[in-house]
Amino acid sequence: MRFGNFASAAGVLSALTLGALFVLEGASAQGSEPEKQDGKVVFRHVLDNEPIAFEYKTDQTITEAVETFHQTAENPYSGEAEAIADGEKIYKRLCVACHLKDGSGRIGPNLVDDKYHYERTATDRGKFEIIYAGGAGAMQAFGRRITQDDILRVMAYLEELKAKEGS
Ligand code: HEC
Repeated sequence: MRFGNFASAAGVLSALTLGALFVLEGASAQGSEPEKQDGKVVFRHVLDNEPIAFEYKTDQTITEAVETFHQTAENPYSGEAEAIADGEKIYKRLCVACHLKDGSGRIGPNLVDDKYHYERTATDRGKFEIIYAGGAGAMQAFGRRITQDDILRVMAYLEELKAKEGS
C-alpha cells in the first residue's frame, strides 16, 4: 500500500518533469525568446550589434505600449486601427521619400515583400532597432525625431501596408 503510493507519486513527478521539458523544448525550438537583461529586451544596433542605449528624446512619455514592447519585443499596436492611422501619417511625413508610398522602395529597400535587407527586419524587434537607431547611409536614427510610441505606430502601419501591397 505504502509502496503503491510512492510509485504513483513518482509517476506524477516524472510526468511533471517530462511536461516541463517539453515546454522548454517548445520555447527554444521556436527561438522566440528575445535576449533580455533585468526583464527587459536588449535591442541592438543593426550595423555593429552594440546594445542600444536609448539616449534620444529622453523627455518623451514612455507609454504602456512602449513598456510592453520592451518586455516582449512584440508590437502591441499590431492590428490596432487607431495606431495604424497615426502610423500612416508618420510614414507619409518621414518615410515615403525613400521607401515610396506603397513601400516598394527606391533609395531605401522594399518594405513590403518577403526579402529583407537585414534578416532581423522580419521581426518587430528588428524593425524597431533600425527605425530607432538607424542603419547605413540614408537610413537615419528616427529615435532622434519621433517617440518610441510613434515608432511602434509606424511599424503597425508597415504591417498593414505589407498585407495590402506585399506578395
Ligand atoms: C533618406 C532616405 C530614407 C528615409 C527617409 C527612410 N529610410 Fe528606411 N532605409 C533607407 C535605406 C538606405 C535603408 C537601408 C539601410 C542599410 O542598408 O543599412 C533603409 C532601411 C530601412 C529598413 C530595413 C529594411 C530591410 O530590408 O532590412 C526599415 C524597416 C526602414 N528603413 C524603415 C523606415 C521607416 C519606418 C522610415 C520612416 C520613419 C524610413 N525607413 C525612412 C532609407 C531611408
